[in-house]
Amino acid sequence: MHEIETERLLLRRWRSDDRAPFAALNADPEVMRHFPERLNPRESDALADRIELAMERQGWGLWALEERASGRFIGFTGLARPGFQAPFMPAVEIGWRLERAAWGHGFASEAARAAARFAFDVIALDEIVSLAVVANERSRSVMRRLGMTHDPADDFDHPLVEQPHLRRHVLYRLTAAQWRAAGAA
Ligand SMILES: CC(C)(COP(=O)(O)OP(=O)(O)OC[C@H]1O[C@@H](n2cnc3c(N)ncnc32)[C@H](O)[C@@H]1OP(=O)(O)O)[C@@H](O)C(=O)NCCC(=O)NCCS
Repeated sequence: MHEIETERLLLRRWRSDDRAPFAALNADPEVMRHFPERLNPRESDALADRIELAMERQGWGLWALEERASGRFIGFTGLARPGFQAPFMPAVEIGWRLERAAWGHGFASEAARAAARFAFDVIALDEIVSLAVVANERSRSVMRRLGMTHDPADDFDHPLVEQPHLRRHVLYRLTAAQWRAAGAA
């Protein structure tokens, strides 16, 4: 299991005491604004189970994010294989979800850079993608800060989302060549 340290963060395996703060952020309407529904504690635990299973199987995944200065769990950032069919599949997705109090500090972007570096240098992927509801500007900003690019021709309707206003998604891409050309390697 790979763990990654950045200037202010630890991307680590999940612990049992992450479950309560994870359930709290999954129940926060602001954090979950662009998702079909908030999660109750049982659903939040089930999501953590799925994340941990994927991490054990692959050695990487959606890492638990710990702020090193405080030792606090603040959410997750990392890599996942989307579990649905779409024109851009198969692909590895980079994604993030942080508690509200941890927004506005650059933590998601810092963790995302570390996860992207892992994707290209360790897994040796040629490309990663990221997807979001069109209106999720904060998430799209993280994608842009990472150097990802958006082609409107890649936009798609998420097959697992029923609510019309949340269905349309943007897709951002980052190739290993773009990442290296930007000097991020
Ligand atoms: C998406 C999400 C992770 C973005 O979090 P974020 O804190 O806005 O993103 P970053 O970590 O890149 O932080 C950038 C902000 O920190 C500020 N910042 C402060 N210190 C900084 C530093 N040292 N380095 C970089 N940015 C810093 C930036 O100016 C920027 O502020 P702004 O929002 O006023 O423009 C967060 O909004 C979230 O968890 N949303 C809910 C879940 C979700 O929608 N996930 C994505 C699904 S597709």
